[in-house]
Amino acid sequence: MINKIRQIIGTGRTILKDPYFDEGKLKSSEELGKSPSRTTIINALLELTASKNYLEIGVRNPDANYKKVNCVNKFSVDPGLEFKSNPVDFKLTSDDFFARLDANKLSGIDNSIRFDVVFIDGLHTSYQVDRDIENSLKYIHKTGFIVLHDCNPPTEYHQRENYDFKNSPAGIFWNGTTWKAFYKYRHRQDLYSICFDTDWGVGVISKSNFPLFNNISSIMSNPYFEYDVFNEHRLQHLNLVEFKEWASKL
Ligand SMILES: C[S@@+](CC[C@H](N)C(=O)[O-])C[C@H]1O[C@@H](n2cnc3c(N)ncnc32)[C@H](O)[C@@H]1O
Repeated sequence: MINKIRQIIGTGRTILKDPYFDEGKLKSSEELGKSPSRTTIINALLELTASKNYLEIGVRNPDANYKKVNCVNKFSVDPGLEFKSNPVDFKLTSDDFFARLDANKLSGIDNSIRFDVVFIDGLHTSYQVDRDIENSLKYIHKTGFIVLHDCNPPTEYHQRENYDFKNSPAGIFWNGTTWKAFYKYRHRQDLYSICFDTDWGVGVISKSNFPLFNNISSIMSNPYFEYDVFNEHRLQHLNLVEFKEWASKL
């Protein structure tokens, strides 16, 4: 009997052969092989602007991206949850940063500032990203950009809500539910957006129209933000485009 049960549920040490795990690993490694990086995209977008003011929300180790961004003035925000030394300008959550910026209570920056690019890469939950987009919209130039990391989760496990849960086909990789906030804003008729199919999905939102940018004019076709619906209509939900194709239209 014990043997029968072991056969069915495994011994605890047995790793079940599960096609979802194989697919998760494959999709993660495909994503890691894509190019260009978010940094290349941010710099390409900055080149379309005056490249005066850049804001990064969620920095972790600045060597990875922040230091490689080419802009005259750069501002960084991070409460320091993942990188101990946290060498940023504002050791705050994005909510605190924007509340203090609104109230003119920050040193070295005031609420007349307008950013050419805001890179949102802090807490990857739909509610937080939604607030980060809403706050950033107040502070970008008419021809500026909001850039969002992790908009294109390759499986439903990559977009799980709980970052700490690692025993899934996505393993350590986590995109969170950023795609839901991006998809929501794709319905705003006064905004235009695109998502580059690289580096886990680099979403871009602007108040101005650029080649291949668009918005979704129909009523929301995925009102419950279901992953399966998103997956079936991924190209339209995200306006997923190869960066090379977009760059060739400039
Ligand atoms: C994915 S890392 C950022 C990576 C970096 N932008 C890059 O391109 O390499 C996420 C960072 O967001 C920070 N973070 C977490 N919650 C945050 C919040 N509420 N506001 C701003 N940053 C937050 C974490 O401390 C962490 O350093």
